[in-house]
Amino acid sequence: MSFSRAVKIAPSILSADFANFGAECRAVEAEGADWIHVDVMDGHFVPNITFGPATCAAIRPHIKGVMDVHLMIAPVDPYLETFAKAGADILTAHLESGPHVHRTLQTIRALGCKAGLAINPATGIDAVPHLLDDIDLICVMTVNPGFGGQKLIPAMMGKIAALREMVGDRPIHIEIDGGVTEANAASLTAAGADVLVAGSAIFKGGSVTNPAPYGANIRALRAAALGD
Ligand code: DX5
Ligand code: ZN
Repeated sequence: MSFSRAVKIAPSILSADFANFGAECRAVEAEGADWIHVDVMDGHFVPNITFGPATCAAIRPHIKGVMDVHLMIAPVDPYLETFAKAGADILTAHLESGPHVHRTLQTIRALGCKAGLAINPATGIDAVPHLLDDIDLICVMTVNPGFGGQKLIPAMMGKIAALREMVGDRPIHIEIDGGVTEANAASLTAAGADVLVAGSAIFKGGSVTNPAPYGANIRALRAAALGD
């Protein structure tokens, strides 16, 4: 994975057809997705359950590009190796997932993955300067994690800008996760985001048998993000 700050659109398969993940991943990639965002939830760290490493491994052959795995699980450390073996390119763990997130990030890199740090809406960013040498991506949660289809929390805009300034010229992606739409994409990239995760905004109106709306949604989001 080479680093670029160009805008990347990452469909979240949380909004896909759960009986058709392989076909859904192929469809959104064919329709222009840059990364595939995979939301793992445990019913403990977040109030919802999705799937685990076996599903990630099953999905992997259907993704040509980057598989971006967002781990909403606690504890997270005991499962990192299994998710790395499942083929994740990026493994993102939450700052709130345990007391030793620094160790978690180092373990992720040692396993050969890019290390992502996700930050819940209510969590401050005071710890981030201490972690900058150990992260490849910061995932700013713009909704409380657990469910798709929520509204972006406006107070997160300042956090995005502050993180972008903190990152400076380091090769660290700023990813936005939750409530991303065509209407707010421009303000998100203007604040410093380069990866936009979107579930409902991309999968709305389409299906594996009718994937054209996915393409239209991705193009609309990208155009808005680029300020076109
Ligand atoms: C929320 C997940 C998100 C979610 C985004 O817990 O981490 O990735 O799928 O969905 P939308 O774009 O519908 O807010
Ligand atoms: Zn996510």
